[in-house]
Amino acid sequence: MDYQAIENQYTSGLFAKRALTLVRGEGLRVWDDKGVEYFDYSAAYAVASVGHANPAVAEAIAEQARTLVSCTEIFYNDKRALLQQKLASLLPEGLNRFFFCNSGTEAIEGAIKFARMNTRKTDFIAMYHGFHGRTLGALSATHKKDYREPFEPLVPGFVHVPYNDIEAATAAVTDKTAAILVEPVQGEGGVKPASPEYLPALRKLCDERGLLLILDEVQTGFGRTGAWFGFQRYDIVPDILCLGKAIAGGVPMGAIVFGPKLQTMTKGSHGSTFGGNPLACAAALATIAFMESHNLPENARMRGEEFLAKLRAIQSPLIREVRGLGLMLGIELKEKAQKYLQALQDEHRILGLLAGPTVMRFLPPLTITREDVDRCVEAVRAVLTPKPA
Ligand SMILES: Cc1ncc(COP(=O)(O)O)c(C=O)c1O
Repeated sequence: MDYQAIENQYTSGLFAKRALTLVRGEGLRVWDDKGVEYFDYSAAYAVASVGHANPAVAEAIAEQARTLVSCTEIFYNDKRALLQQKLASLLPEGLNRFFFCNSGTEAIEGAIKFARMNTRKTDFIAMYHGFHGRTLGALSATHKKDYREPFEPLVPGFVHVPYNDIEAATAAVTDKTAAILVEPVQGEGGVKPASPEYLPALRKLCDERGLLLILDEVQTGFGRTGAWFGFQRYDIVPDILCLGKAIAGGVPMGAIVFGPKLQTMTKGSHGSTFGGNPLACAAALATIAFMESHNLPENARMRGEEFLAKLRAIQSPLIREVRGLGLMLGIELKEKAQKYLQALQDEHRILGLLAGPTVMRFLPPLTITREDVDRCVEAVRAVLTPKPA
């Protein structure tokens, strides 16, 4: 059957699609409908951190599907309770309250509401090249003009300042500022890690000026940066933490985490039908258990350091800079990256991502081995080495 023709007939048309129909996965590997094997160094945009079709997660989903799928938060639930307890055990003391939702953008959306409700202030400082999602609140915090402009007017009160520039953030604070919203590593914005001093300086600024610090760890959370959470690599604690993507091994889930600084959480002021459903909670419990038993944050740190060093060692006139933290890796080229990504796919069966027009990005499952690192590095070297005329 020609699945691509069917999708082309019925799709929204919003996605720039690649001509590849993926039907099965296992760990780092995925297969197309003709049985051709590919290596997924995108992990479906940092979602499949425990690998595709992880047996432990699949088993937990199947078991929960036979037990109880739906249970809204007006009732208590065993899997939700256990997940809250587990997450609290992974987080610092001050971060022990959880609102569950279904995606990253919803986590940001809720965080904006929580910050406004608690501070009684309206405004937010976000970053140049920051990406926080596509719903109107999260989009207002997102910087990219092409994503914003068709949908204006957006939510008022958002200003954007240069990333890694503490003076700019300080100068932007007014008596209306509720919070600063920032990613520990900008993902969509080109794989740009915060400098070692930036997040601690933002934390200090928030403390001095009575602002909330909201970290968007939708992409950086759950081991991706080589620690359970990106903020741990910077030795700070945020007031609100937004999570998504990898949290439930591929089952849609997001979370907003907060602590005692947020006192005013009026009952009924926010909610979600699907948020905290037992299926997602059971998948998240299995995902976290797998990450713990396989020490995946540590594997991400070690494989990430090797990956980064080996990519940096590639001699190519096309490369401007190689950046990354843990298993978030970006190669900024001096020209558009799309054709090199396509060559990786066509010639090496390696799936990577763009992060802006000139950056190749890799977000592999955190389970990858040294051999997996070397496969990708050698393929990148091959496609970025100019061929003799
Ligand atoms: C940092 C960050 N925040 C928020 C989002 C939005 O998440 P979702 O696509 O699940 O709504 C993304 C998605 O890529 C992201 O990378």
